[in-house]
Amino acid sequence: MTLRDEVAVPALECRGLSKQYGAGRIVLAHLDFTLGPGEFVAIMGDSGVGKSTLLNLIAGLDSADSGDVIIDGNSVTRLDDNAATRLRRRKLGFVFQAFHVLPHLTLAQNVALPLLLNDLPTDGALDMLAAVGLSGRGDDFPRQLSGGELQRVAIARALVHRPKLLLADEPTGNLDPDTAHDVLGLFRAQSKATGAATIMVTHSKAAAAVADRILILSDGGLHAESGESTDSATSAATNPSSRTRSSPARSADDAR
Ligand SMILES: Nc1ncnc2c1ncn2[C@@H]1O[C@H](COP(=O)(O)OP(=O)(O)O)[C@@H](O)[C@H]1O
Ligand SMILES: [Mg+2]
Repeated sequence: MTLRDEVAVPALECRGLSKQYGAGRIVLAHLDFTLGPGEFVAIMGDSGVGKSTLLNLIAGLDSADSGDVIIDGNSVTRLDDNAATRLRRRKLGFVFQAFHVLPHLTLAQNVALPLLLNDLPTDGALDMLAAVGLSGRGDDFPRQLSGGELQRVAIARALVHRPKLLLADEPTGNLDPDTAHDVLGLFRAQSKATGAATIMVTHSKAAAAVADRILILSDGGLHAESGESTDSATSAATNPSSRTRSSPARSADDAR
């Protein structure tokens, strides 16, 4: 066995990712980041610092000025648009703050969407709904659900096709604290159960505390809470010191 065989392919690598809007301020500056398979990372940082921009670049919802996004060993910038779209459709799952569950589809149809789009059998959709605590609700429509239940549907939909990488932008931001706590537990359990590496952007220190490690986005780059650079960040996944829970001086929650 060669050394290469023994080293797991990262779920995600960002290399030298840069983004600025117009001639205005630079949002991301040569950002480097590596996420190991199955690893769960929380990203925090002040409002407007570029957290959503980073997720959007990884997701292909926006394009970087320079740098590369490598998903499960596949460099997105080397693919044409169609191939990049297919790669992301197969390898990524998304959970948004505002749920984005489609109102005219039943819960089962919502969850089955990623399977349909990937030409996969749709049998797994009801099991996935059951896994998020919505057993027997497949024929219901989203209007019959609470916010917490809608986010459970979104989590089921994000994971049903067993993506390598799950991106979540403030997944509990629209939920009351008790519901947020329940949904967060479920989110973490299901992302681990399906083996998806996860990036969760959050304002909440309590939410971030469930992650394997916490990174702070500031000055265009990602930093461990202690402030050191995370360029060779996979090693931090198994480094207990990276789990230090020192808090930023002022959280974005306080700013709201
Ligand atoms: N499409 C856009 N056009 C121009 N500026 C943008 C656009 N999207 C985001 N920005 C700006 O980029 C910065 C980062 O935004 P964002 O990634 O949404 O921050 P965060 O998610 O950390 O709150 C902000 O200053 C925001 O105003
Ligand atoms: Mg944002």
